[in-house]
Amino acid sequence: MEYYAGVKRGPVSLDLQPLDEEVVLNKKDYIVSRTDLKGYITYANDYFVEICAYSKDELIGANHNIIRHPDMPRIVFKILWERIKKGEKVFAFVKNLRKDGKFYWVLAEVEPAYRHKEVIGYYSFRVRAPRHALKEITKVYAKLLEAEKEGGMKASRKVLDDFLSSKKLTYDEYVQKLFKSGFGFGGFLRSFGNIFR
Ligand SMILES: Cc1cc2nc3c(=O)[nH]c(=O)nc-3n(C[C@H](O)[C@H](O)[C@H](O)COP(=O)(O)O)c2cc1C
Repeated sequence: MEYYAGVKRGPVSLDLQPLDEEVVLNKKDYIVSRTDLKGYITYANDYFVEICAYSKDELIGANHNIIRHPDMPRIVFKILWERIKKGEKVFAFVKNLRKDGKFYWVLAEVEPAYRHKEVIGYYSFRVRAPRHALKEITKVYAKLLEAEKEGGMKASRKVLDDFLSSKKLTYDEYVQKLFKSGFGFGGFLRSFGNIFR
């Protein structure tokens, strides 16, 4: 484990131009990061450094939105923060922006990190997102983003709620179902059992 001792920093590449070029994660590797209570990165594993193309020095102390991709609807992060602040874990498909402008998709689990029963930050574990889950989630996120541009997060939350109730699924059930459909049931159990504990 490494912890930063320096000054917190915001995104270093505010004017970064996203490219339509994907980097696909290895099947067996996973990305780990840890943040403080405000989302500033305090730990990054080597695979995270490799995949996002920032150096460890650039990552540690930076806000996690350093890799935020403009194609990601804000409502997804709103749900993420609402859940982890309540002490819950949450799963989300996330498109991330690398330092070179390329992107990569993950399925992320984010959860509170405890010291003596007190929440001192948050952890995130991420694996490669299954291809055909991405086909669907890309369309869902595009609709959420469109709604957000017109009516803000209130509008995108309504679109998401309506979408989930049309499927008769909760957010968690939907994300897990999409992930499961990518790996088959055995793979699903193995992935969640081993990586997401
Ligand atoms: C442990 C943890 C991991 C996170 N990982 C990511 C991530 O990989 N990509 C991302 O865009 N946001 C991630 N976030 C969410 C960011 O903190 C932030 O809410 C998001 O990038 C949206 O940025 P914005 O609120 O400045 O628009 C993470 C948050 C936490 C607590």
